[in-house]
Parts: sequence; structure tokens; C-alpha cells
Amino acid sequence: MAEPLQQLVLTTLDVQGSIPDTRTLVLPGQTLPAASNDDQIAILGALNSLLSREMITYETREVISHVLTPEGAQIANEGSHEARVWSVLPEKGKGTPVSPVQLKKFVGDETAKVGQGRAFKNGWIGKDGDGLVKLVAEISDATKNDMQEIASTGTLKTGEKILADLRKRKLIVQRKIQWFTVNKGSNFSTSTVKPETDLTVDMLTSGTWKTSTFKKYNFEAEGIPTNGGALHPLLKVREEIRDIFLEMGFAEMPTSSFVESGFWCFDALFVPQQHPAREMQDTFYLSDPQRALPPQPEYYKKVSTVHEHGGFGSTGYRAPWSHEESSKLLLRTHTTASSAHMLYKLAAKCRGEVIEGDEQELTHGAKDTTNLDGKGDDGFRPAKLFSIDRVFRNEAMDATHLAEFHQVEGVVADRGLTLADLIGFMRVFFKKMGIENVRFKPAYNPYTEPSLEIFAFHPMLNKWVEVGNSGMFRPEMLEPMGFPKDVHVHGWGLSLERPTMIRYGINNIRTLVGHKVSIDHIENSAAVMF
Ligand code: PHE
Repeated sequence: MAEPLQQLVLTTLDVQGSIPDTRTLVLPGQTLPAASNDDQIAILGALNSLLSREMITYETREVISHVLTPEGAQIANEGSHEARVWSVLPEKGKGTPVSPVQLKKFVGDETAKVGQGRAFKNGWIGKDGDGLVKLVAEISDATKNDMQEIASTGTLKTGEKILADLRKRKLIVQRKIQWFTVNKGSNFSTSTVKPETDLTVDMLTSGTWKTSTFKKYNFEAEGIPTNGGALHPLLKVREEIRDIFLEMGFAEMPTSSFVESGFWCFDALFVPQQHPAREMQDTFYLSDPQRALPPQPEYYKKVSTVHEHGGFGSTGYRAPWSHEESSKLLLRTHTTASSAHMLYKLAAKCRGEVIEGDEQELTHGAKDTTNLDGKGDDGFRPAKLFSIDRVFRNEAMDATHLAEFHQVEGVVADRGLTLADLIGFMRVFFKKMGIENVRFKPAYNPYTEPSLEIFAFHPMLNKWVEVGNSGMFRPEMLEPMGFPKDVHVHGWGLSLERPTMIRYGINNIRTLVGHKVSIDHIENSAAVMF
């Protein structure tokens, strides 16, 4: 279509000198002038192509036009409702008056209802006994005439008032029609030979470059969007949070082990073996292999003893210990399993073990400046650790829950830490994330005492929402690892998804994670700064 259309424009310009109104063009293969918007859009394509070669110039014009609705079209063909009512009635004294029931049969319910009223008002019909009759022998059906005029010209000579009335009666609708005025351009010619886009060796050697027309550079062209990779919003927010931890002096924990044992995910954290979170409906267990390798025997013994019989000032759970429960392999339900591994490692020197290399990595070389009890070096080094990685829970999926998500977790180990330290840390941490308004609520975790839930005021939802969970790790967890009594460890965790959803205004997790994620959305989500 494109080429013949361009040819048509050029030939018409050649013959007429100009095209004042492109709606008068009869497009190739058609018999009527190009009155529709679609036709004009096709013409616009041809005009732009000719314009880029400066063969023409054009101006865009716009008119508001009207088209008939299906009801309007029926009136244009069959007359107005009132005229149809009038036409089926006998003249007064010349036949049997038509009863209202009969009238409905003749013209249909709708026309009988609307038409009667108007015909009465116009003085066209009247009552004769119980029936209806014509009062005049001839009528002029103005509505029908108006509709016919609009159908052919798009408007009414009589003016806007009647048009407005017809629009209100839903007989016509407004439509914007675009059309163009076309004139010859500086390179006008009737030939649509495509201009050259490249200067080739052949042209240079043969000399044809001298006579060729070249396509102009279009410096306004937008160019093809580049096909680079784009970071998923979760990764962007992960990066931001990682930066916050790093600038606060935290070291990142290795968290690549998605599979953990019941021992590390729960027992080491003093989560009772009967805890509901450990049940099948909450935790994914592995079927092959089912069992983990045994942990270090001495530590294992200490953990099982503190559960079963107590110790370190605790009465324990005093429930029988199940080795089977402890050795089950599972998908970790929280990254606190990794924190437990790391804390165990951090306490190695306190247990009198020699560790190579790891200490520096865990502690950033921090000095134990608070060991003032005069008993000498007990091997403890303070540490601030964090992780951001994936966890798994056997959850019913809905708009805000998936069976896997990411946890952000921070752990601080030092002598004499208090709850005030934890709260202070939380305030700084969340402030750096842009959350200034935080509140703490007492909560319960099997592995922390006291425990605090963290709430932040959500200005969009206009309410306090839970943003994290935290607490001071229990002695039943820390002391079997070998930490000295005065070493306290506090920790907190939050999901990565929640702040990301808030940040990007996403309210369904499935538009953030999974097969329904729109790549456009990923590519176009700007990086955010807390
Ligand atoms: N593990 C907790 C959770 O899954 C978060 C947490 C981490 C709480 C560390 C206290 C200390 O919600």
C-alpha cells in the first residue's frame, strides 16, 4: 500500500499543484474518497515518508465530526420513532383508531413508548375514543432529515444546539477526524525511487554517486532501544540494603546452602523439636537424601542436652530428644540457620579450636576492646554479620505470599550488648532504608529473648505495618556454641520483598516474582535510592 499511496500523492500534486484536503483523495483500489480516520492514518504514513525526502510538505488539520449510533442510523433509514408511530395510524374519521396495545405490535415496544410522547407533543397524533389517530395529513420528520445530513456531512448546518441535543439522545457521537493539506517540497518529483541510504564502493567507482539522491540523516530518530540486561527490582533493592550493611561495618555471611538440617535450622537455635514451624505443612523436607551428615559430636551433645534436660541456667524443654528430627534435611525456612553456622564458627577460638583465615573474614579484624574482666583473652572477637538470601516455606500462595522469598538478616555479637543496643541499631538501620518512624512490640521467637517485632508507619496505607522481627539470642543457643557468658548477640530479620513492593508500588507479589513478571516493567523500573 505504501508505494502506490506515495505515488498517488505525488501524481495528484503534479496535476493539481496542491492537495488542500487529503479527504478528497480516492485511495488505490477504492471507489469513495478517503473519509475515514484509518484512511487518513495510511495517508499520513505515505506523507511522512515523502516528507523525509523533502518531496512534499504538509500540515495537519483536525475537525470534530459526528457519526451516527446504530439507533441514529435506524432513524436515518426508517424515520424517527414519532414519525413511525404517526405513519401507522389512520387519519381521524378515516379508519379504526389504533389501540396502545396494537401500536406496540405495529412498531415495537420501544418506538411506541418514545414515539407516542413526541408525536403528541408535535401535535401529529391525538386520541379518538380509546385509540390513537393522525391529526395531520403530512409531517416533516426533522430528526430523520438531521440524521441524514449528519451521515453525509458529519455535521449540521443548523448548528451546535441541535447536535448537542442529538448527542444527549445518543443518536450521534463525536469523532475527531484528522486530515492534511499537502504541498510540493523542495525535492518534489513524481518518481518515488527510494533514496540511497549508503554510499557504496560501487557508486564511487562508477560515479553514480554524483546523480544519486541520498536519504537525509534524521537526527530526531529515537533509535532502537538497546538490548542490555536489566537488574530485577529485588536485586536492586538487595544491592541498596547490602550497601547499608557494608557502610555500617558488617561482613557478608555465606548463604549458598539452601538445604540445611533440622539441627542447624532449628535445634541449634533452641527451637523445640515439637514446634509447629517444623511440621510438614510449614517446612519442605527432602526425600532424597533424607538425612544430613552428623554435626560435630561434642556440640551436638550440648545442644541435645540443653533441649532435653536444660543447662546454662535453663530448664530446657524436658521432652525426649529425637535424633531423627534433628538429622532431617530440609529447605531452610530462615537465614538464621546460616547465622547459627557463622556464630558457631565465630565461637571456635572460645572453644579452644584453631581456625584458619575465617576469623578475619568474620570479624573484619575487630579487636575485643570490651574484655575488661582481667581474665585474659578468651578467644572471643566481636562481629557484625549480615546476609540477604532465599528461604522457603510451605505456604498457601496468594497476592502477598509465595513458597519462597528473600530474607535480610543482621547479627551483632559483642560483650554486654543490651536490648537498648538492638533498638538503637534498628533505628539507624531502618532510617538508612528511609523508614524513620519505627515502633517495637514485644514478640516471641524460640531463639531470642526478649524478642521484638518492628513496625513502621506506612504513609500510603496510613497504618503501622510489620517490617521485621528481632531479638537477643538466648543463652541456650549461644552457650553450647562456646561463647563466654558476657557475650550477647542480637539479630533481626526482614523480607526483601516487602520493602521492594512498597518501593515500586507493587501490590501483587506475582508481578514481582514468577512467570507473570513483565520484562518491560523490569527494564523500566528505575534504580531507587533509600
Ligand atoms: N528468623 C527470624 C524470622 O524468620 C528473623 C530473626 C532473625 C529474628 C534474627 C530474630 C533474630 O522472622
